[in-house]
Amino acid sequence: MPVIAVTRERRPGESRVAAVPETVKRLIAAGFSVIVEAGAGAAASYPDADYKAAGASLAKTARDALAKADIVFHVRAPEAAEIAALKTGAIVVALLDPHQDRKSLEALAKKGATAFAMEFVPRITRAQAMDALSSQANLAGYRAVIEAAEAYGKAFPMMMTAAGTVPPAKVFVMGAGVAGLQAIATARRLGAVVTATDVRPAAKEQVESLGAKFVAVEDEEFKQAETAAGYAKEMSQEYQAKQAALVSDHLKKQDIVVTTALIPGRPAPKLLSAQQVASMKPGSVIVDIAVEQGGNVAGSRPDQIVEAQGVKIVGYANLPARIAYDASALYGRNLAAFAGLLVDKDGKLAPDFDDEILKAALVTKGGAVAHPALKG
Ligand code: NAI
Repeated sequence: MPVIAVTRERRPGESRVAAVPETVKRLIAAGFSVIVEAGAGAAASYPDADYKAAGASLAKTARDALAKADIVFHVRAPEAAEIAALKTGAIVVALLDPHQDRKSLEALAKKGATAFAMEFVPRITRAQAMDALSSQANLAGYRAVIEAAEAYGKAFPMMMTAAGTVPPAKVFVMGAGVAGLQAIATARRLGAVVTATDVRPAAKEQVESLGAKFVAVEDEEFKQAETAAGYAKEMSQEYQAKQAALVSDHLKKQDIVVTTALIPGRPAPKLLSAQQVASMKPGSVIVDIAVEQGGNVAGSRPDQIVEAQGVKIVGYANLPARIAYDASALYGRNLAAFAGLLVDKDGKLAPDFDDEILKAALVTKGGAVAHPALKG
């Protein structure tokens, strides 16, 4: 029976956990045995007793949990001491941030671990239940709007009171992928007037179907801006200048901006300059979801609220961790679905490395970095 270990996340501010009692039950029903480090779920409000009731055994320390593990489930890359405690050939599945966190990748390779990066799970129909980027981005988009509302000194909805009318907030969402679309939906639910932009033409209809207005330069380059995988391309200098001019005008009338723009494997595109930020009304709020990938907004800082001429730039690096209960439940389900690929039909540990999902997600194996995009 393959053993899965779930240890506590040790990165500062990481309050999620890679399995929740419900997914432990599911894994056990699928033929795994599960060891959870005591306290692993505490920061996400999952007590040890619930893991135990779900059938997990509890280990006092991470080292105890890892000593027996064939498979380790994590949110972020395990810390060096945890990697050192892995069994030879153990499988590690996590959001490894492989393009940026080279150190963990090399430590995993050196230890001989077989590591899978959940970010690299391809977006094919069969892998939808394993799409951790989407599950976490969805919650990040929701949470970004909640953070914006919290930092904003005015109301979101229009309110008609005996003392007069409060106007609705104007929210502008830049980047209408998974996070952006959820941000639009959330801002609409709170009663804001919402506009959004993206460089992918497919985004236009999605934005409009949520009741928001689409704002973008729709030229020939825009029409070609989506890759076969559904991601954005890096846009030309010329397009960026045209788009910046359009956005500059629009921006002056906005109260809240949420930026979510990312390009896989590249630094986040710079969407707002310091001048554009300064052109906004005092009291406006910007939430930069891309802050961890370098940021979309000039002046945004990870885990800080920066004030620039009366405009607040909110830069929480890990928004899903600020809604850790739900983020853990969704991520845990993504991993439980992924676990099914690691065993054969008799439940024996036998990952099929020719499977296109495992092939795409594999980043280290047999002592080396295995992914073609990461070698070198
Ligand atoms: P992402 O997180 O890589 O980027 C976020 C958004 O930023 C994207 O919509 C991108 O087009 C946009 N962006 C990039 N550069 C920009 C710029 N300069 N200005 C404005 N916006 C810019 O993307 P995400 O959210 O992961 O989704 C990308 C696409 O994949 C979406 O169409 C989504 O619906 C699709 N998708 C498909 C799935 C499937 O088929 N299973 C699952 C999840 C998403």
